[in-house]
Amino acid sequence: MHTARVVIDPAFRIGEADRRLFGSFVEHMGRCVYGGIFEPGHPTADPLGLRQDVLELTRELGVSVVRYPGGNFVSGYRWEDGTGPVGDRPRRLDLAWKTIETNAFGLDEFMVWARAAGVEPMLAVNLGTRGVQEALDLLEYANHPGGTSLSDRRRKHGAEQPYDVKLWCLGNELDGPWQVGHKTADEYGRLAAETARAMKLIDPSVSLIACGSSNRGMATFAAWEATVLEHTYEHVDYISAHTYYDPSDGDRASILASAVDMDAFIDEVVATADHVGAKLRNRKRLKISFDEWNVWYQSRLQHDLDRRGWVEAPALIEDGYTAADAVVVGDLLITLLRHADRVGVACQAQLVNVIAPIRTDTGGRAWRQSIFHPFALTARHARGTVLRTEPVTPSHDTKRYGPVPSLSTVAVHDDETGALSVFAVNRGETPLSVEFDLRAFPGLTTTEHLTLDGPPRRLDTAGRITVELAGASWNLIRSS
Ligand code: AHR
Repeated sequence: MHTARVVIDPAFRIGEADRRLFGSFVEHMGRCVYGGIFEPGHPTADPLGLRQDVLELTRELGVSVVRYPGGNFVSGYRWEDGTGPVGDRPRRLDLAWKTIETNAFGLDEFMVWARAAGVEPMLAVNLGTRGVQEALDLLEYANHPGGTSLSDRRRKHGAEQPYDVKLWCLGNELDGPWQVGHKTADEYGRLAAETARAMKLIDPSVSLIACGSSNRGMATFAAWEATVLEHTYEHVDYISAHTYYDPSDGDRASILASAVDMDAFIDEVVATADHVGAKLRNRKRLKISFDEWNVWYQSRLQHDLDRRGWVEAPALIEDGYTAADAVVVGDLLITLLRHADRVGVACQAQLVNVIAPIRTDTGGRAWRQSIFHPFALTARHARGTVLRTEPVTPSHDTKRYGPVPSLSTVAVHDDETGALSVFAVNRGETPLSVEFDLRAFPGLTTTEHLTLDGPPRRLDTAGRITVELAGASWNLIRSS
């Protein structure tokens, strides 16, 4: 058994635990929409076709904001196709996922679903095959109250009130050669800046997200962000980041340490953005929208795409997750919280079926995967002020990241109820005996220890408590 120590103090404030850190993502990909959130004829479907069993699990997951409709899909999407009478909607080729898109589900259905799920919508505009005008049309349709052709079209389609969507992604992963409409940083930066400037003329209240790199390993990483932000800095509010961690090679020690990589990624994007801000003499500081993150067994995707022709809603990357994957997801959430001062939005990708916490059978049941649980518990308990913790911890070696700290922690203090939640991951295989020093919170008297694989354990004392964290485990130590 190794030992570690953590001191928690209300003075070590990082920032607020923004609810938008607990976002998710619904893309027209695989069975995320069709057979996922939407399945007319399913025993639980409402008259619109929305699966109530999936809606219930979405609410239980505690998701706050949902990004839609892509992802790679959005870079070839015509948003108008998904509006109006369903019988008149065109069938199209979706080049991103080699799929037939029926358009039976579109923006208006998504907004009904979002309201029922109690989530904030976050929309992406197509800057792959389209440009400024189409983005403006979509914004006018969604947010303008009425009295113009597009806003009246929305009203005719049943939505009298504007959707008032605040979060808008200016395209998706345009740095990636796989992206339909892939661009250089200068090409994308110019287009994103012009789109942003015009969108704010229609609705100055929107927050806009410029595309950062598709992942930290891209050859253009950091240079892409710098160039894009030189064009867009004054017009946008966020720069995006995406990352997926792949356990396919079986290197368990490295996958359990994935959050070390996310941590460095965030620091590098912040440094790059602040460099541009300084260079432009602009005192505004951008936040990161970490709008795609998860564990993904990526080696399976090409196989899924290669073995078939054009079909509707094929099963794509329906990864099954292990207990270790759930620990990784819990640690990634700890990392996002540790950067609550600079990460303002985060979306786990995706919500249902496609690398997702929720899975469904078409026509059948819906269930929770292992990664559902750390997300739901963190979303439920990380309320209030995020506090910095500096664990005194042993480290261990990993092939991918070298020596890494075995213990990862963050604390969140609920200023209203006084409750303190400490999230802790033991990334190593050796059990850790951790002393949590809570003496700066004299009002706390009882503590419970929650894990992913057993009932909560009640600890009778607060003040200084010692808790054993099993090897490769996610833990919540909650005091009130
Ligand atoms: O989430 C799956 C895909 O991963 C998204 O469509 C894309 O943006 C990313 O590469």
